[in-house]
Amino acid sequence: MAKKVILDVDPGIDDAMALCMALFDPRLEILAVTAVGGNVSPQVASRNVQTVVEQVDPPRWPRLGVASSAEHGLPVDGRHLHGIDGLGGVHLQVAELRTRHPAEKIICDEVRANPEEVTIVALGPLTNIARAFQRDPELPSLVGRLVLSGGTVAGPGNVTPAAEFNFYCDPQSARSVIRSRCTKTLVPLDITNRIVMSYDLLNQLPPETSKVGSLLRQILPPAFRAYRQQFGLEGIHAHDSIALMAVLNPGLFSTREMAGDVETQGDLTMGATVFDRRRVPAWRHNIEVAIDMQKDGVIDEMLAALAEAGRRTSKNRFDV
Ligand code: BDR
Ligand code: CA
Repeated sequence: MAKKVILDVDPGIDDAMALCMALFDPRLEILAVTAVGGNVSPQVASRNVQTVVEQVDPPRWPRLGVASSAEHGLPVDGRHLHGIDGLGGVHLQVAELRTRHPAEKIICDEVRANPEEVTIVALGPLTNIARAFQRDPELPSLVGRLVLSGGTVAGPGNVTPAAEFNFYCDPQSARSVIRSRCTKTLVPLDITNRIVMSYDLLNQLPPETSKVGSLLRQILPPAFRAYRQQFGLEGIHAHDSIALMAVLNPGLFSTREMAGDVETQGDLTMGATVFDRRRVPAWRHNIEVAIDMQKDGVIDEMLAALAEAGRRTSKNRFDV
């Protein structure tokens, strides 16, 4: 039976790529895609969610949730990497949103309708998840599993020396989600930084004649340019797609139960994830953390998901 999933995203190019993989994977039933501000503003993230879904047009449209501003969000965005519109600056067309339900309401509704069955895949700041848990305090125990892209265990951050982007954007929300009693798995930067997708990815994308290929062939080249300019890297990270792989094929990851929290005050450490790794820890385990992965297996799985999405959105019968 397909896994019921809610994707909470801040598209963002790597979010968009993860969406393309998830929406056509027969192992998943995507109940909803909810937008959250992060890489771009809440308004632009909401627009981008609809843009991606509209462009690739899955056979069954998920419910779409709109983002609103975080109460304690920090003034940061990812447009230097993701482009002025969050999707490589290619200005894709989108229709007006048909329904404008708040993201956190959709999360509450879907989890309540499918108790203990829903996996929430959070690929952006944790604003919506924290709000959903606040709105319905029983919700954390009704979520099947929450899989998070973000945080860092031993390595440096990527937005400050100490903090990873998703946790830094809204540290208060990140803290309340990490402290919640929901069953969760963290796929941190330490893991996702290990894969750099080279330019060869562009040759391995589905053909232009498929909807997914057409979209990704527009939005990925600007990401490669940005990574080279910003980091001198000849390739891009695929943080959010790797977190999705931990849902699709958890066997490719080694995990450890850990005791974690999020710094919400420090001048230098705001948004940093802190784990009690003392010889005799005093904190209780509250999160499963990915500590290793079969790198080649994860890359193969991502390419296979893209190929499948290409086949399922092909406009040319010879591609099938
Ligand atoms: C995270 O930050 C965002 O820019 C990416 O979309 C990803 O979710 C990685 O730190
Ligand atoms: Ca993201």
